[in-house]
Amino acid sequence: MNNRRKKILQELGLTPIWKKRTDSTPESLTSESRETTSATMKDLPASASEVTCDHPVHSMNWDQLKLTVSNCTACALCETRKNTVFGVGDEQADWLFVGEGPGAREDEIGEPFVGQAGKLLDQMLTAIGLKRGSNVYIANIVKCRPPNNRNPSDTEASACEPFLNRQIQLIAPKLIVALGKVSAGNLLNRNDSLSSMRGKVHEYSGIPLIVTYHPAYLLRALPDKAKAWKDLCFAKATMESLL
Ligand code: URA
Repeated sequence: MNNRRKKILQELGLTPIWKKRTDSTPESLTSESRETTSATMKDLPASASEVTCDHPVHSMNWDQLKLTVSNCTACALCETRKNTVFGVGDEQADWLFVGEGPGAREDEIGEPFVGQAGKLLDQMLTAIGLKRGSNVYIANIVKCRPPNNRNPSDTEASACEPFLNRQIQLIAPKLIVALGKVSAGNLLNRNDSLSSMRGKVHEYSGIPLIVTYHPAYLLRALPDKAKAWKDLCFAKATMESLL
């Protein structure tokens, strides 16, 4: 194993699993392979399917969008949030990573993926030569914390969808990486298993989209880190083919 590969595996916390390879090792482990706006979400439609190109969200610039999100009362999550979590990173990034929704730490700080799962996400980024904030943008399906870290409901996700949709229009990323089933399911409007969505290039509004595990899940399911590594390699190769 060369030093670069070793370093990548270390970043992903994969090295011990890699060393123990046996005949029964799953195939995945062998992979080398302001102008301000007075609009509040009360005035906005409940779901993106109602959002047309002449809808206010779709003509908003970054500052308008950020302000609108910070004042949003479109769903009940606004009643329990401490902060909205808009998204973070390079607003012209080629890479967009989309998680599910803020957790407790993110709710406190107002930034996505700053807790334990965020640390792992940063390691995943490092593993493929990326860094938070540099050609990478990180966002979530919903911008407010679902209480007790439950999944966002369909109603909550729909209420928030116009914001993510506008962010994606403004960023115009080359590739979207959906982190976990909730993210992939909402972006692709599918209710399929995560495993059936991995390993393919999907599309969101004409933008290639790849599905991988959510970092919070990977913290609990160590063996699947190897599969995530495979997905990241696939995403990197896909990006290279797009450049
Ligand atoms: N999990 C997510 O999906 N998003 C975050 O911002 C943090 C944890």
